[in-house]
Amino acid sequence: MRIFLVGFSGAGKTYWGKKWGEAHQIKYYDLDEEISVDHGESVTDIFEKLGERAFRNLEKEALEYFLEIDDFILSCGGGTPCFFDNMDRMNEEGTTIYLHATPQQIYNRVITETDKRPLLKKIEPSEIKAFIDKKLRDREPSYRKAKIILDTEKINDTTFEKILRSLEQV
Ligand code: S3P
Repeated sequence: MRIFLVGFSGAGKTYWGKKWGEAHQIKYYDLDEEISVDHGESVTDIFEKLGERAFRNLEKEALEYFLEIDDFILSCGGGTPCFFDNMDRMNEEGTTIYLHATPQQIYNRVITETDKRPLLKKIEPSEIKAFIDKKLRDREPSYRKAKIILDTEKINDTTFEKILRSLEQV
């Protein structure tokens, strides 16, 4: 089973991915972490030194690896589904879950840690909300290709069990 969690920064991909992985003994990975270990630098440094384009290539490469292995939950970066054919490939090879959050919810979650988010780092605090609104609107069509869409406010302890059960029946 291959589970891909997609959604904007701050939607809770890491939080839920870890929790679900632990609860069901499924290995959990974070794509950003894999890229940073492979490359020997943090994602923030890769963005700063090599630029977003180079990061997107590394991200694609790292994702390809996960399309070959099995039995994991992978938390993707916020932009992963929006570049190349990444979203289609994830849909072909596994189950994609979009953790949907509103721009306001995302804003509330990321505003205290913008320095850890390369895309938000250089934006004036007063412009962050508008930036999130626009980016989310641009990205929503890619996110919405996911096989399962969850409203992050409504996720509870039984959500993932239900998903697993529905996958077993396929
Ligand atoms: C990005 C989101 C980040 C990371 C990179 C780019 C984006 O991941 O991949 O900074 O384009 O939205 P998170 O969604 O885990 O913050």
